Amino acid sequence: MNWSSEIIKPGVGAVVHADAAATKDPAFADYCLDLLYKQGALILPQINLSDEEQLEFNDRLGARVNFTDNIAGGNEAAKDVYTITLDPKVNTEPEYVLGTFFWHIDGMCSPIAPPKYTVLSCRKAPDKGGQTEFANTYAAFEALPEDEQKFLEGLRVLHSVTAAVRAVAEPDEIKDARKRGAQHERPLVYTNPDSGRKCMLIGYSADYIVGMSKPEGRALIARLTEWAAQPAFSVMHTWTEGDMAIWDNCGVLHRARPYSSDTGRRMHRTSVAGVEDGAAA
Ligand SMILES: [Fe+2]
Repeated sequence: MNWSSEIIKPGVGAVVHADAAATKDPAFADYCLDLLYKQGALILPQINLSDEEQLEFNDRLGARVNFTDNIAGGNEAAKDVYTITLDPKVNTEPEYVLGTFFWHIDGMCSPIAPPKYTVLSCRKAPDKGGQTEFANTYAAFEALPEDEQKFLEGLRVLHSVTAAVRAVAEPDEIKDARKRGAQHERPLVYTNPDSGRKCMLIGYSADYIVGMSKPEGRALIARLTEWAAQPAFSVMHTWTEGDMAIWDNCGVLHRARPYSSDTGRRMHRTSVAGVEDGAAA
């Protein structure tokens, strides 16, 4: 076995030491899945996967899903690789990437089931800023008083693109009408189908709570997001080119620390398909 791991923060994050060859071994995928189940977010320093290798490993973790056609990856063979960059030569819609400076869950505004895992590789590390932070909402939810947990379990949230970019763009600045209108309603509390643990589908894409006044709902979402982001439930990774992270997309909020386009920061993302919350259906 040519891999090992160490816990960064119990139940919140772990580092996995492995090389690219390990990702060809099904036992390594099982090892990562078991660790994801316990720790939520994994950092794999200097694993140096190509797009093709990342997709192959992504597929070992579960079925591949591509929930966005915006800024496709570099070549036809890797069309399910999504490039995240502020480089104006590649990205003409920077508001979506600037929106990732705020806590969010990938794929919340799309009608597909919420992606189960996100796999993110660093292809060009910024020399300043651009770290990624992860906040575990299983741990955050479980630390809430029982009566509040029960109250939250009855709620549903409308996630929208306009909310996801609200901090950086007015709704009428979203030029693509299809994206401007993208929204999807989800349970606030999501039950992981494998573990039965409960997490919270919150963050900046959460626009309002169904059946609650917008100010009241937004105040609740903001408070829960801040609760989840406290140091007890969160970790941060400073990227070096060749690093990769994998996290439980539904149960781990993430955000990028601010960086500027001239850092050249470029990340390649792939996603593993998830399921709707059966408990809430
Ligand atoms: Fe993201």
